Amino acid sequence: MHTRFTQAFGIRHPIVCAPMGYITGGRLAAAVSAAGGLGIIGGGYAGAFGSGPDLHDELALVQGHTFGIGFITWALARNAGMLDEALSHHPACVFLSFGDPAPFAPAILRSGARLICQVQCLRHVQEALDAGASVIVAQGTEAGGHGARRATLSLVPEVADHLAKRAPDALLLAAGGIADGRGLAAALMLGADGAVVGTRFWASQEALTPQAAVERAIAANGDDTVRTQAVDALRGVDWPKEFSFRVLRNRLTDEWSSREAEAWDAFGSLREAYAQAREQDDLDVAAAIAGEAIGLIHDRPSAGSIVESMAAQAQQLLQRGTSYLSR
Ligand SMILES: Cc1cc2nc3c(=O)[nH]c(=O)nc-3n(C[C@H](O)[C@H](O)[C@H](O)COP(=O)(O)O)c2cc1C
Repeated sequence: MHTRFTQAFGIRHPIVCAPMGYITGGRLAAAVSAAGGLGIIGGGYAGAFGSGPDLHDELALVQGHTFGIGFITWALARNAGMLDEALSHHPACVFLSFGDPAPFAPAILRSGARLICQVQCLRHVQEALDAGASVIVAQGTEAGGHGARRATLSLVPEVADHLAKRAPDALLLAAGGIADGRGLAAALMLGADGAVVGTRFWASQEALTPQAAVERAIAANGDDTVRTQAVDALRGVDWPKEFSFRVLRNRLTDEWSSREAEAWDAFGSLREAYAQAREQDDLDVAAAIAGEAIGLIHDRPSAGSIVESMAAQAQQLLQRGTSYLSR
């Protein structure tokens, strides 16, 4: 499937594995890239909140493939040295989300890597372009993990129109709710050059996701996620207020998701309990991080087979073209 995005990155399929912190390690990124997509290692909070998977080890696993690395921008600002370390491994791109990319853009562009910025509204698009991003990811609220309020279906074409007028060379990817070839075909129809896929790869064999979390997600459907700020407030991670966290509902979110103001008043009160729950896979407290697309996920296949089947289904659907119209 050739699009402007596959041509720019020299890959076969316009499918990007999202840089999911603690989930997209080197094995998953390498598997997606080997299958013809683009794997982006999740650098998450850039080590600003204690340790996660060792970035060096994860980067070693992806050498020899075209790969990228992603960071949560406001957290990278607290541990900016992490960017130089990442750039020393020669990623094809750096994927920044959630915060002002401008302070980091010069070093990224100087290194020869492309800057990909994930955005949630039109104001972010302009900030990303001003910083020098060559790829914009329009992320809809369906997405797993952090995000904001706009839905994919209208955000993507609105950003496509904006780019057509202001920055026609910039590439556009759609994110949020895309888990199969139907979603990929739809994203291309909306004006995107490809898709960023998180939740579907979260439930792949190579992801670092605990099996218990995948099993819970497979048993759930798309009604069973919630977007809330309460989890971050209680676990003491001071996310900027324009963002919230989509997770699989559990006992903690049932109790707190609609009490965000109270949760901020109780900032950090569950820090230790939450960290312990994560270590012990206690999914009643530590939420499984997944988007509305879990309703489309019923298994944990290899990442390579996800790439192949998503691309094949999208291609088949797009080729059917006008046959969708009744005669
Ligand atoms: C488990 C999980 C962790 C995520 N972590 C990050 C992250 O660290 N940085 C980031 O930019 N986006 C992160 N995201 C959001 C993705 O970049 C992407 O927008 C989203 O997964 C797309 O929607 P989908 O989950 O419906 O495919 C995460 C998503 C998930 C599901």
